[in-house]
Amino acid sequence: MKKTVLVSGGAGFIGSHVTVELSQAGYDVVIADNMSNCDETNYKGVCAILGRQLPFEKIDFCDAAAANDLFNRYKIDAVIHFAAFKAVGESVEQPLMYYKNNLDSFLNVLECARVHGTNVLFSSSATVYGEPDETPVTETSPRKPATSPYGNTKQMCEDFLRDCVAAYGMHGIALRYFNPIGAHPSALIGELPRGIPNNLVPFITQTAIGKRECLNIFGDDYPTPDGTCLRDYIDITDLAKAHVCAVTRMIEGKMDEPYEIFNIGTGRPVSVLELVNSFERVNGIKLNYRIAPRRPGDVTAVWADPTLAQQKLGWKAVRSVDETLASAWAWEKRLAEAAE
Ligand code: UFG
Repeated sequence: MKKTVLVSGGAGFIGSHVTVELSQAGYDVVIADNMSNCDETNYKGVCAILGRQLPFEKIDFCDAAAANDLFNRYKIDAVIHFAAFKAVGESVEQPLMYYKNNLDSFLNVLECARVHGTNVLFSSSATVYGEPDETPVTETSPRKPATSPYGNTKQMCEDFLRDCVAAYGMHGIALRYFNPIGAHPSALIGELPRGIPNNLVPFITQTAIGKRECLNIFGDDYPTPDGTCLRDYIDITDLAKAHVCAVTRMIEGKMDEPYEIFNIGTGRPVSVLELVNSFERVNGIKLNYRIAPRRPGDVTAVWADPTLAQQKLGWKAVRSVDETLASAWAWEKRLAEAAE
């Protein structure tokens, strides 16, 4: 019997890629999204890649009755929870909106999972490590006080899951993503930032296509080899595949502990300047960029030790930065063609 996975936020950037990988691995997937931060582009792209329509439920998980109804209508073996607001700066300006949305929705998912005996996968973030004392970070590296309400919701949701697993005999996994970038090799799904992008790669591709005049590189005086920040950029398809491994581990009862945490990164630090230079070289483009002041809240360097995910999930990032940057550019060009 095929197992069913509910993907909340399944029409978004990460959710759509995870939906494709789960479907291709043989899972039935139900996509649920309130479409507050996206349009139908990625949902249509997912269906085009798979060559069939997937069940889609327009639902806001802050609505407890609607969430409950959804869990009653499908027999869900695992839920992957992506549905959340994700802009760091906006969360500082509107903390209540972030706390209400990101916490309420996950609490409702947890309540449904408790009642229905559903496995839970939570999409966490390397942001929980803050400015680490040592790099690379392992899953046992200390979590630092969050520097934004957004980061705080990631830490709180991890704790909600840990406590529910302990109290109710549930099973849960938190995946801590480093910096997801790129797009599906088909260029049919990808990142669709609203307004001016906060993240580096969408800003690079929008500058390359002419939507933005100039890329600001935030700081070149950090204590790193070239003075710019170091991050662990992980290909979105590689990252999506980690979810298939984690869901399978839960559904097949192969967990060592009922609550587990895994870093999902490459283990490879890349500087902002290196990434920009790679983008230029791989795609044969000269980018207009300048060195700008540091961005408040940025940490100097953070990258993953991904050993645990390799050992326990049997997962490893395989795509090169070059391949991923080519996919990001192919996606931006496709968006431009579609807009013509
Ligand atoms: N950067 C620039 N110019 C830009 C955008 C980013 O120089 O226009 C730099 C940043 O200063 C940073 C690096 O590129 O050094 C990466 O920045 P991103 O915004 O792409 O990613 P972050 O590492 O800041 O963000 C990640 C996750 C977020 C998470 C955040 C918390 O993508 O979801 O860590 O710190 F909230």
